[in-house]
This record gives sequence, structure tokens and C-alpha cells, in this order.
Amino acid sequence: MDFLASTHLHIFSWVVGIVLFLIASQMKVGTRNRTIFHMSARVFYLLILASGAALFFKFQTLPTNFPMPSQAIYGIKFTLGLLTLGLMEMVLVREKKGKNPKPFWIIWAILVFATIFLGFKLPVGIQF
Ligand code: HEM
Repeated sequence: MDFLASTHLHIFSWVVGIVLFLIASQMKVGTRNRTIFHMSARVFYLLILASGAALFFKFQTLPTNFPMPSQAIYGIKFTLGLLTLGLMEMVLVREKKGKNPKPFWIIWAILVFATIFLGFKLPVGIQF
């Protein structure tokens, strides 16, 4: 399963997953197209999870520039990624139920920024 531990696959998955999520969120609740986009986004959530987990298990001991053990900062990346996906799902489900998604949008925006920032700070793949 080593092919899953690829930053290219990981980036491809979250770019497509986020685009599908954003399109679905702009569609009218209850339409067939929205359901299709939501379900397709979920397939990509699984791919994000699989590639992220594979990267985690492969690289969690790699030395980093953070003043803490590698496993700790990699664990934070794992948690932030998971929470980001969780918030995406909650935004779409709350819209579907007619509940106010706004606070969840704000938390999602902060989480997705932090996740991408930390991802690019960690040593594998693109680094800044
Ligand atoms: C929407 C959700 C996510 C976004 C936007 C995201 C974003 C990123 C980015 C930008 C990178 C850096 C890629 C590179 O350096 O080329 C990365 C790497 C990584 N991600 Fe994610 N990620 C997400 C979800 C996850 C999840 C759910 C996990 C764990 C299950 C995870 C684990 C990792 C790991 C371990 C790395 C490698 C870090 C490194 O050493 O460079 N990510 N991610």
C-alpha cells in the first residue's frame, strides 16, 4: 500500500474533495445534483484519509523543525486533517437539515488553513 503514501495523491485528493464540497454547498438543498456532488465528495474524503494515514505511518518519525517529537506534530497534522473533513461533512448536513451552517463554515476555514499550512511546513513533499 506504499503508493498511498504520496503527497501528490494526497494533494490531488484534497483539492478535488474541497472543490466538490464547495460546489455541493452552493447547490439547492434536496436536488439530485447536490446529492451526487455530496456523495462524490465523500469518496474523496476517504482518499484524503487513506493517503493522509499512509503518509502518517510512513513519515511520523522523520525529524522536523518543530520543537517537539515528530510523532506529536504529525499527530497534530492527522487531527487537523480529520477535523477539517468532519467540518465539511457537518456544513453540508446542517444545510440539508435547514440549520445555520455559518459557525461551521468559519471553523472549517480556520482548520483548512491551519491544515494546509502545517502540511507544507512538514518535511515531506513541498516545504516552506
Ligand atoms: C482536507 C483535509 C486535508 C488537507 C487540506 C491536507 C493538506 C495537506 C498538505 C498541504 C500537505 C503537504 C503536502 C506536501 O508537502 O507536498 C499534507 C501532508 C500530509 N497530510 Fe494532509 N491534509 C488533509 C487531510 C489529512 C488527513 C485526514 C491526514 C491523516 C489521516 C493527513 C495527514 C498528512 C500527512 C501525514 C502529511 C505529510 C506531512 C509531511 O511530512 O510533509 N492529512 N496535507
